Amino acid sequence: MLAPERILRLEDDRVVFLDQRRLPLEEIEVECRTAAEVADAIRTMVVRGAPAIGIAAAYGYALAAVRGEDMDAAEHVLRTSRPTAVNLGWALDEMRRDPSPAHARAIHDAEVARCRAMSAHAASLLAPNTRALTHCNAGGLATGGYGSAVGAILSAWEAGLVEHVWVDETRPLLQGARLTAWELETAGVPHAVIADSAAASLMASGEVDAVLTGADRIAANGDTANKIGTYSLAVLAAHHDIPFYVVAPSSTVDHSTTSGAGIPIEERDPAEVTPRFAARNPAFDVTPAALIRAIVTEHGAHTPPYADSLVGAVVSV
Ligand code: MRU
Repeated sequence: MLAPERILRLEDDRVVFLDQRRLPLEEIEVECRTAAEVADAIRTMVVRGAPAIGIAAAYGYALAAVRGEDMDAAEHVLRTSRPTAVNLGWALDEMRRDPSPAHARAIHDAEVARCRAMSAHAASLLAPNTRALTHCNAGGLATGGYGSAVGAILSAWEAGLVEHVWVDETRPLLQGARLTAWELETAGVPHAVIADSAAASLMASGEVDAVLTGADRIAANGDTANKIGTYSLAVLAAHHDIPFYVVAPSSTVDHSTTSGAGIPIEERDPAEVTPRFAARNPAFDVTPAALIRAIVTEHGAHTPPYADSLVGAVVSV
């Protein structure tokens, strides 16, 4: 498993990221020396995944404070770097209270601790010999260490509960085929990458026992935004009576947004889908709460009705 500081870290005068765009072919670091450079790393997906984006913003804010940057400008450029992951705004709200490097590093440490706790809770929901399916990358790379949905799979694997993992390749940027497969290979977990469109027939042939994904923002009613394609998996899972679990820290729960309709969905460059023809590239979709068997945070498994069960899903510092 990658050490948290290998994924991202704050040094005296820079924030250093493992460049997730280059993985798994090359392990190259990117150094950012201003808040604007950190924002650019978030926007261009050098660093990605909701909790990791939040940690990156915290480090960028701390760096700006150390450098004596205009803090309003630093906050603005970081806050607007990507719209969907609520962890970004959450981390900046935290950093406004205390912009010190120590606070930013404490946010990173706490996020990894939440991952370990939620992963243990989620693993306990899985039956022996589970063949899990996951989408995008919700591993350590996405959370700054250990992971959420992939953390749950790792935890369940260590408990002897996982037989095999199906990894959606996750068009168009292939976070599954590049990052999740790399993490599972490193951990020695049996897995196979599938085309996103293969999930339906694998479910129909009885080869999927549970679907686990992360989240970028969970509304107060349990509607959940995650990587584009998550909603179709949830519909498929419901049709085949397969449990669909969302695993995410409480920093991903947005209590101020009442339903999925209020979640901003990022539209990215159409050239990521095809460089040649007209295209549309929504980066996330919203899975209605009714399709989610449980939302697992560091506090445990929250079950419907989520408007009640998510009330306690708040970050305790
Ligand atoms: O566009 P990305 O790669 O940042 O999207 C990431 C996801 O959708 C993840 O599933 C989500 O952030 C959860 S990460 C624990």
